[in-house]
Amino acid sequence: MKILIIGASGTIGSRVTAALESNHQVIRAGKDSGEVSLDLSNPESIRQALSQVAPLDAIVCAAGAVAFNQFDKLSREEWDLGINSRLMGQVNLTQIGTEFLNDGGSITLTSGIIADHPIAMGTSAATLNGAIEHFAKAVAQELPRGLRVNVVSPTVVTESLAVYGDYFPGFHSIDAKDLALSYLRSVQGIETGQTFKAHAGN
Ligand SMILES: NC(=O)c1ccc[n+]([C@@H]2O[C@H](COP(=O)([O-])OP(=O)(O)OC[C@H]3O[C@@H](n4cnc5c(N)ncnc54)[C@H](OP(=O)(O)O)[C@@H]3O)[C@@H](O)[C@H]2O)c1
Repeated sequence: MKILIIGASGTIGSRVTAALESNHQVIRAGKDSGEVSLDLSNPESIRQALSQVAPLDAIVCAAGAVAFNQFDKLSREEWDLGINSRLMGQVNLTQIGTEFLNDGGSITLTSGIIADHPIAMGTSAATLNGAIEHFAKAVAQELPRGLRVNVVSPTVVTESLAVYGDYFPGFHSIDAKDLALSYLRSVQGIETGQTFKAHAGN
């Protein structure tokens, strides 16, 4: 398969890339890194990047920003960061991506455990993670040509504990190489409209 990985340089994306590149042709994408650059929050840049590398068999998104803050302090700008990137970035990627995928191709998006288990400062992330999971469940019913879409919902990643660990007191983490299996399952499997919850122990 020819697979585009958005966020390929990241903590999650680099392990997903490692898991897939031995058996597939992987194209790395990021905002400022990779063979192709695209800004997830800008639909024109998504279209331009996909048109450069199409046709594709799979698109994986391991990117999508969101703001963390107390609910009473969350500004409209902070909400918009996540709405434009985590939510509409991945919705736009799915809509535009369907034009550039071969029959039977797949799109794999990323949400997060906060959709199911709230944490302090996490209201925006919880809201937008939940929305992306419901989006995938719904849109899977009307994608054409056997195209599939799934979401991977990671718990906090072990390699990210130094940065995010304080937000997740008492949560079990997952090693990025184990998390990569959920992305592999979405890309190489047959399921669609699913959220693969990589939440073991939580
Ligand atoms: N790490 C965790 O514990 C965890 C848990 C649950 C969910 N998540 C979610 O999983 C996703 C990946 O997390 P991560 O920890 O691997 O992130 P990361 O290490 O910060 O890497 C982010 C990746 O996304 C790319 N990127 C950033 N902004 C972008 C944009 N506007 N358009 C396209 N690509 C962009 C970056 O590329 P450039 O450097 O080139 O910009 C980089 O490759 C995020 O949505 C995160 O919220 C993470």
